[in-house]
Amino acid sequence: MLEISLKGKKAFVAGIGDDQGYGWAIAKALAEAEAEIIVGTWAPIYKIFTSSWRLGKFDKARRLSNGSLMEISKVYPIDASFDTPEDVPEKIKEHKRYSACEGYTLSEVSASIEKDFGSVDMLVHSLANAPEVKKPLLETSRAGYLSAMSSSSYSFISLIKYLTPLMPAGGSALCLTYIASERAIPGYGGGMSSAKAALESDTRTLAWEAGRRSGLRINAISAGALGSRAARAIGFIDAMIEYAYQNAPLSKSLSAEEVAKSALFLLSPLASAITGVTLYVDNGLHAMGVAPDSPSLKLSNTEESTS
Ligand SMILES: NC(=O)c1ccc[n+]([C@@H]2O[C@H](COP(=O)([O-])OP(=O)(O)OC[C@H]3O[C@@H](n4cnc5c(N)ncnc54)[C@H](O)[C@@H]3O)[C@@H](O)[C@H]2O)c1
Repeated sequence: MLEISLKGKKAFVAGIGDDQGYGWAIAKALAEAEAEIIVGTWAPIYKIFTSSWRLGKFDKARRLSNGSLMEISKVYPIDASFDTPEDVPEKIKEHKRYSACEGYTLSEVSASIEKDFGSVDMLVHSLANAPEVKKPLLETSRAGYLSAMSSSSYSFISLIKYLTPLMPAGGSALCLTYIASERAIPGYGGGMSSAKAALESDTRTLAWEAGRRSGLRINAISAGALGSRAARAIGFIDAMIEYAYQNAPLSKSLSAEEVAKSALFLLSPLASAITGVTLYVDNGLHAMGVAPDSPSLKLSNTEESTS
């Protein structure tokens, strides 16, 4: 059996707020491979995540295949929209959920990781945010659009910039993207589709720059639909999951663990010659040019003839 061991390696996973999303599943896969896990949790939900953790609310989900519980060495509050303390507006600083946290801008989080851990081998960017995600692009304000780009795309560049000095050659970074970057997905609005397009383009450019400068690998996973907290906030995730089930080449549900295993591979030395890619992990849905369940296609005869 091909085993991936990341013993002695440290991973910083930015974007874990509960046990439902891709970030959690990726952290768990990395922990299965014995990597040390460091987490970044969005500042406004930092307190609820850390207290739920302490109260044992995630214990069932923390269970690893050897029976032990996944450990997190440290959870940092983080806000991916801000690089330095000077960037944080007074209104945010004074907000009660933020005022309870310290050092959540990306430069400060990176400095804290350096102080606490010295180095980090892997970075996972598993976060996105668009205040106007429910609005069509044509109704999205400039501020809403730029906010989506700032927290969902530029944050990947910024994290890599600040963490590169801590990452030894051979280290790797991974972000999570979605097919709405290259195909129109009605309902995925507020500039999120644009943010994902930027994220994928940046993955290629960052692969070049961070590869040449520091020997790092930078990749993206274009994941299929998952009923995470963030996806539920958009509002039509169950329909997207059903659509994928009905129309993807592999007619089965997609688990967060399947995406996490692919992430583990891309982050590990098994993928030592892979950089700058966007890997689809979506049961093959991206390959389809039509929706076979569309009533206008009436494909049933064709399907029968090819099966
Ligand atoms: N769920 C899906 O269907 C799907 C499909 C493809 C790609 N993705 C991507 O996967 C990644 C993880 O999302 P998920 O669906 O697993 O949901 P999730 O809710 O588990 O993760 C999103 C995280 O982003 C955090 N976040 C939001 N704004 C932030 C900010 N300004 N600073 C720091 N953190 C912030 C949230 O608190 C949350 O923990 C995202 O990039 C998302 O776009 C999700």
